[in-house]
Amino acid sequence: MPEPLLEVSDLRIRFGGFTAVDGLSFSVRPGEVLGVVGESGSGKSVSMLGVLGLIRTPGAEVSGQVVFRGRDLLALKNAEMRAVRGREIAMIFQDPMTALTPVYTIGWQIAEQIRAHEKVSRRAARERAIELLGEVGIPAPEQRVDAYPHEFSGGMRQRAVIAMALSCNPALLIADEPTTALDVTTQAQILDLMRRLRADHGSAVVMITHDMGVVSEIADEVLVMYGGRAVERGSRRQVFHAPRHPYTWGLLDSVPRVRGARARRLPTIPGTPGASGQGCPFADRCAHSFAACAEVPPLTGGSGHLDACWLPEEKRTR
Ligand SMILES: Nc1ncnc2c1ncn2[C@@H]1O[C@H](COP(=O)(O)OP(=O)(O)OP(=O)(O)O)[C@@H](O)[C@H]1O
Ligand SMILES: [Mg+2]
Repeated sequence: MPEPLLEVSDLRIRFGGFTAVDGLSFSVRPGEVLGVVGESGSGKSVSMLGVLGLIRTPGAEVSGQVVFRGRDLLALKNAEMRAVRGREIAMIFQDPMTALTPVYTIGWQIAEQIRAHEKVSRRAARERAIELLGEVGIPAPEQRVDAYPHEFSGGMRQRAVIAMALSCNPALLIADEPTTALDVTTQAQILDLMRRLRADHGSAVVMITHDMGVVSEIADEVLVMYGGRAVERGSRRQVFHAPRHPYTWGLLDSVPRVRGARARRLPTIPGTPGASGQGCPFADRCAHSFAACAEVPPLTGGSGHLDACWLPEEKRTR
């Protein structure tokens, strides 16, 4: 087993009195694809922003440890963290406009990203930008390279942002819903690009998605989040073939049956997840809850398959 590339321990993120991430721990090994799934509001985006030191809300509290290649990222100075972001870790944000500047052309922005991390000429960086745009499925990339973000459709902007993230061959790519806005064909191209990033550069990928179909195609490991916590973690096989947490059962049951169909967004959690800090966060929606659920279940298990649930073994079948 290689050493983890990224090891997150007991990450907590609070906004005022609201706990968005509640003691999250997970690790990613080099070359591994970790799929992170969970309903809207379960803390997927916020936890990854926390990992990258990008929580900017005044008064937000972030604690825990985020060790990447032996360094605690939460302890780095801003300038050091900026050097890590983009060069060693790239992030594809859920909203592509956050990564694009409206006043520069798409090609210029990709080329600058390349030149910020590599000593190459403007011309070579532009050529590479065109190549990357072609790879993410932008038609006529040698013309579109000079377009401004507002001249791109939402799906094209998403692809441009993916091109930018892939431009420096990061050791770790954190992709937040990178394929949600895309049609099935483009989605398949993007998943291929991620596989190639891993094959050619040994990169690891953290892939946040609502789409269990995407996870089943690309992930080696799966992390299921609920209410700012990990409720299940295991290999793709373990989680898809022998899911242990009632919440994961629910997620798998909501997978659309038609292959290739766009995944629906899962329903929002009623109430405020994790805010009370009392008991299992899923208890009030769980068909199996019982007295023990008044206490928070720890994440435990064997053979790399962990879950946070008090249900006895004989009740662990869907
Ligand atoms: N800056 C912020 N200030 C206050 N609350 C926030 C902030 N950012 C996120 N939250 C809250 O934290 C919780 C988790 O949000 P997050 O964006 O991580 O959800 P998510 O799992 O990514 O959902 P989605 O699937 O919809 O993207 C939500 O309840 C959200 O309202
Ligand atoms: Mg999100």
